[in-house]
Amino acid sequence: MLTVRAPATSANLGSGFDVFGVALTHPADVVRVERAEETTIEVTGAGEDFIPTDPEKNTAGVVARELDAPATIHIDKGVRPSSGLGSSAASAAGAAVALNELYDCGLSREELVRVAAEGEAVVSGDAHADNVAPSILGGFTVVTDDGVTTVDASLPVVVCLPETVVSTHDARGVVPDSMAMDDVVETVGNASTLVAGMCRDDPALVGRGLTDPVVTPARSALVDGYDAVAEAARDAGATGVTISGAGPSVLAICRSQSRRRAVAAAMVGAFGDEGIEARAYRTEIGGGAEVFRS
Ligand code: HSE
Repeated sequence: MLTVRAPATSANLGSGFDVFGVALTHPADVVRVERAEETTIEVTGAGEDFIPTDPEKNTAGVVARELDAPATIHIDKGVRPSSGLGSSAASAAGAAVALNELYDCGLSREELVRVAAEGEAVVSGDAHADNVAPSILGGFTVVTDDGVTTVDASLPVVVCLPETVVSTHDARGVVPDSMAMDDVVETVGNASTLVAGMCRDDPALVGRGLTDPVVTPARSALVDGYDAVAEAARDAGATGVTISGAGPSVLAICRSQSRRRAVAAAMVGAFGDEGIEARAYRTEIGGGAEVFRS
């Protein structure tokens, strides 16, 4: 028996659509695996009723097939599905790391990113390694066709999860096919500022770099209450705010650990003013999937 804790992640970070991602210290999925003749999956925890247990339809089951590593897999969901916090990616990442250890497959963490992304592809129809990469590798990750680059960043973060759902399919549908050169220049500037901020653990630079002129404005209409929540977070001391992944979670970078309480309360309050219940995670950018043997 082997247990892996695979963290929630936040993809895009505004200016890095489909490229940037960060691992969060919590919430997380806990994946337990045991060798078996054939793969079976049991799911408990957040959104358990909405997650398929058929191994061909579950990201962890697809990973087991890809690694030729049949197992009894138990997934305790800490990351709610359709939250914008990389829920299916956390399960795929946890299963990839766990089964690699259980069967002594000898794959590197970078190779496991590709395997976990396949799990995501089969289930969601598209392989976005911008969630599985940080869940496996930790820190801040930059995913391109040529591979993954990581920065061992550490910054205070609040993610606020409303009791609403945004479909990734819908969220991708509102992203324009092309952008004007002015927007390209602004996006490159912001993304570069963000990367410099991650390298220096500088919350002001990262907050500034979250702004993007195209994707977040297009998607914000799908996240009820977004503008009010973003404004409340900034007023409470966030250096920058954006939609986490495809939403509906909203991510805020904070000036300091101690500002997180006020930012979290402001965001939950602003959703509440719109009649939407929400919970906030006071978290930070942290490490990747952890293995526990028992
Ligand atoms: N980069 C992806 C998106 C993450 O925002 O659509 C969600 O899978």
